[in-house]
Amino acid sequence: MQLRKENILIVDDDVNILELLHRHLQSWHYHVFKAISVKEAVSILRDTQIDLLITDLKMPEVDGFELIKFVSEHYPKLPKLVVTGYPSIQDSLAAIKSGVVEYLTKPFTKDELKAAIDKSMVTSQKTPTKEDRPKEANTKAYGDIIGNSEKINDVIQVIERIKDNKATIFIKGESGTGKELVARAIHYQGKFSRAPFVAVNCGAIPENLLEAELFGYLKGAFTGAETNREGFFQAADGGTIFLDEIGNASLPVQSRLLRVLQEKEVVRVGSTKAEKIDVRIIAATNSDLKEMIKKQNFREDLFYRLTVVEIEIAPLRERKEDIQLLVDKFLFKYGVEYKDRFVKITPEALEILERYDWPGNVRELENIIQRAVIMCDKVIEVQHLPEHLKYNLNLPSDELVPLRVMEKKYIQKVLKATDNNKSKAAEILQIDRKTIRQKLADQ
Ligand SMILES: Nc1ncnc2c1ncn2[C@@H]1O[C@H](COP(=O)(O)OP(=O)(O)OP(=O)(O)O)[C@@H](O)[C@H]1O
Ligand SMILES: [Mg+2]
Repeated sequence: MQLRKENILIVDDDVNILELLHRHLQSWHYHVFKAISVKEAVSILRDTQIDLLITDLKMPEVDGFELIKFVSEHYPKLPKLVVTGYPSIQDSLAAIKSGVVEYLTKPFTKDELKAAIDKSMVTSQKTPTKEDRPKEANTKAYGDIIGNSEKINDVIQVIERIKDNKATIFIKGESGTGKELVARAIHYQGKFSRAPFVAVNCGAIPENLLEAELFGYLKGAFTGAETNREGFFQAADGGTIFLDEIGNASLPVQSRLLRVLQEKEVVRVGSTKAEKIDVRIIAATNSDLKEMIKKQNFREDLFYRLTVVEIEIAPLRERKEDIQLLVDKFLFKYGVEYKDRFVKITPEALEILERYDWPGNVRELENIIQRAVIMCDKVIEVQHLPEHLKYNLNLPSDELVPLRVMEKKYIQKVLKATDNNKSKAAEILQIDRKTIRQKLADQ
């Protein structure tokens, strides 16, 4: 008996329905994944390539609408089929709006189920009609990359263009901007995705070991080399090697890398024999290599061979329109992980996040949401955010203003952050309420 290749995820809190669906689907040789809650469904979606989602709407904790919303955002191409008790008109409208085309009402016959599945799968494969197109253009996720700013869309377009060839790629960006995420997207969205992706942090391996780790070694090449061993390059053969923090590679390692790039071959430490390899190299750094070249700490010839395709990821402060989407993603991720439910955020708290400058970029945002989700009950409020975010003055660095103007701005900021609670503001500012009034009245 041959399994059909489609993976179907079924989500229902009613185990009887799950069993029934499972039996039917199995009889048609689909591969079935069962989830008894949205939380489980999300973790399956993360790890598995699913071809059709069949979900109930009314479920405790997180309901099917939230799941549909999540899937529409993160897996826009995944077809969805809703199986529900008699749906109200509002339910149907909401489901249609969120992109669900197919509906099946309980109780259903086996034939009705098959017809609905076939229809959902076909609908998803048809060439896009006019109405579908805006949805495609609005896609907010690419692999795991979230963002809809022009800067992120440009990055995604470059990935699309290069993912299927083996040109060497260089990714530049401040810490926490998503360099590794982009490297993984290039590999996993491309046609070599079944071959290995090997990530090497050149900054984390001691300098004297890096060479052996990268290129492998022969028995006896140095003390402790008790057997022949492959390096990361051989391990990544056919796929991608990600050389993170390339600025930390020593000059001897750099000259060996140059050889790999020029000759497409590696020589193990202790050997003279070259081995052909077929690996796409992606290098990344947050240090200024041009500056290192000037100081002769980085080889210029290697630099130009590494930067065949350059991708620069803009810091988060230059693409603030992505903040809300990222916040949604992290609220979902950590809400489900820690609270078994969706956590929301107040507009005031979101505004503070949107105003902050994010020196640690997306990683810093993710950490702050994670912490706030743990601290809050169901909704993240201003009080759940760290102090330094709330009182970030955010003045353009070249704007020089008199101290009293600055002081007034700052008082206003603290008031806003305390929801206009003068006593609380006075406590933070360590002045009394009367002084606050006076200072605000000053011209
Ligand atoms: N556009 C994005 N969408 C979703 N998640 C993101 C995005 N950018 C970054 N992240 C998340 O932020 C975290 C940091 O990303 P990543 O490790 O790729 O950054 P990096 O540039 O390699 O940082 P570093 O220079 O510190 O190594 C990860 O958890 C990643 O999943
Ligand atoms: Mg990194």
